[in-house]
Amino acid sequence: MKELVRLTDVTKVYQGGITGALNGVSLAVEKGEFTAIMGPSGSGKSTMLNLVAGLDRPTSGSVSVSGTDLGKLGETGLARFRRDHIGFVFQFFYLLPNLTALENVLIPAQLKGDGSTDRGRELLEKLGIADVADRYPARLSGGQQQRVAVARALINNPTLLLADEPTGALDTHTGEQVMELLGDLHREGQTILLVTHDAKLATRHAARVISVMDGKIVDDARLASPERAPSEVIRMRSEEKLR
Ligand SMILES: Nc1ncnc2c1ncn2[C@@H]1O[C@H](COP(=O)(O)OP(=O)(O)OP(=O)(O)O)[C@@H](O)[C@H]1O
Ligand SMILES: [Mg+2]
Repeated sequence: MKELVRLTDVTKVYQGGITGALNGVSLAVEKGEFTAIMGPSGSGKSTMLNLVAGLDRPTSGSVSVSGTDLGKLGETGLARFRRDHIGFVFQFFYLLPNLTALENVLIPAQLKGDGSTDRGRELLEKLGIADVADRYPARLSGGQQQRVAVARALINNPTLLLADEPTGALDTHTGEQVMELLGDLHREGQTILLVTHDAKLATRHAARVISVMDGKIVDDARLASPERAPSEVIRMRSEEKLR
């Protein structure tokens, strides 16, 4: 498979930080992978995601996405890279309150000069929230808001979908639905890098789980994924029902 993301000996020390938030992390992610990053609070998960997104720069080491070394891009190049390659979903949705669901979804497309509403409507339809297209975020449930945020992240067909605790502000059932949605996108070929605290969600939906501790990768496990080994998944699901 084609390599999409490569971190080479990446260290990040924030200004005023005594220890590094990341300490010599190397990682390769292939196209089409659904990878979950797990680890305790403060272990460097968001830092890692932000570096891959080009939202921040490493103190040393290199980050490349789709063959582009992000360190070689200036601020304008980095902004363009984010717009064209990255979809980002956050824990707290960050929808603009004065725009409708559909208008929120269309923002990244409009930044590219694309004024069409067709793909936005299509995505809302696909994510099961076409009926709330004209509602404002205050009138949407948490799960609906996160679906709108996922649609907004997908509007420009990103090479890579990044999600930092996308279920962190949702109840268990709604969180599960959002993870199912990410699983569907993965099965359609979307490469996803997800940060989660929830080991159950990670192992049930992602095919690879990376554990981070004190800014280092301490484990990297490829799991039986739903399409590869249904029996393993069925076993996990039935175990859960027994609890
Ligand atoms: N902007 C910043 N300035 C200074 N220190 C920071 C900054 N962002 C993060 N840190 C520090 O870097 C370390 C890693 O933070 P990071 O946010 O990556 O952790 P995390 O694994 O995402 O944690 P959480 O699970 O709580 O979200 C922590 O010690 C944190 O305090
Ligand atoms: Mg974090």
